[in-house]
Amino acid sequence: MSRPYVLLSAAVSLDGYLDTRPGESRLLLSNPQDFDRVDSVRASVDAILVGAGTLRADNPRLLVNSETRRAARVAAGLPEYPLKITITGSGDLDPDWKFWHHGGEKLVLAVGSKAAEKAGKALAGLATIQGVPQDATWAVALDVLADVYGVRRLMVEGGGTIHTQLLEQHLADELHLVIAPLLVGQSDAVRMLGPAHYMGGPSARLRLLETRQIGDVVLLRYAPKDISTEPR
Ligand SMILES: NC(=O)c1ccc[n+]([C@@H]2O[C@H](COP(=O)([O-])OP(=O)(O)OC[C@H]3O[C@@H](n4cnc5c(N)ncnc54)[C@H](OP(=O)(O)O)[C@@H]3O)[C@@H](O)[C@H]2O)c1
Repeated sequence: MSRPYVLLSAAVSLDGYLDTRPGESRLLLSNPQDFDRVDSVRASVDAILVGAGTLRADNPRLLVNSETRRAARVAAGLPEYPLKITITGSGDLDPDWKFWHHGGEKLVLAVGSKAAEKAGKALAGLATIQGVPQDATWAVALDVLADVYGVRRLMVEGGGTIHTQLLEQHLADELHLVIAPLLVGQSDAVRMLGPAHYMGGPSARLRLLETRQIGDVVLLRYAPKDISTEPR
């Protein structure tokens, strides 16, 4: 089966941050209408992926909250909830996190044998552990998600480490970036994207698919694989 369609989703402040500095309480960047839009995107995918860093920082449940959307999934022959996936290289995953106790099936992409062993012990009965090699991690992980778990459409909800890797490796098909009218202003806050060697270098321009105002935020949709050096 071909690799899943990979959709990255994030909300950032006007100064490009995903959150305040680590350890502070979670910053709500978006608004209720936009959270509902995110819910509809979740309902449209086979799987949702977040990094272990986001689980540690935010302890999210990552659900499709709308009953109507869940019912529509079931009526279409899909599981009520998308598969929930995280990735870890340390295997340091807390079984008490909400992630494991809400929604449908959970999968851990454990990179390296130590991570797989540690996660397997901690999460027995809570999640499936899928080993992934340290080399070509994302390419292999996406192939495995398609071939073993039938994932055709994958939504990635952060954090920045994961978004940076998938963009740098040219594996993201779509980017949903919400710009929120907040100014974080902390130099040590969590950035959306870290340093990386992006395809085409700093002058490469991503194709813009859509702009949409949603209350006081703006959604920008880009096609990161479609780059050009000329404005269009
Ligand atoms: N505003 C938004 O839309 C939004 C959305 C999501 C998150 N956030 C924020 O983003 C922050 C978290 O971002 P983050 O960058 O620290 O964490 P992250 O991207 O969620 O997760 C990073 C972790 O994932 C694992 N990982 C990632 N790539 C890997 C690879 N190739 N091989 C093995 N393991 C890999 C590692 O886990 P181990 O440490 O276990 O090895 C790594 O430490 C939080 O502040 C959160 O609030 C904001």
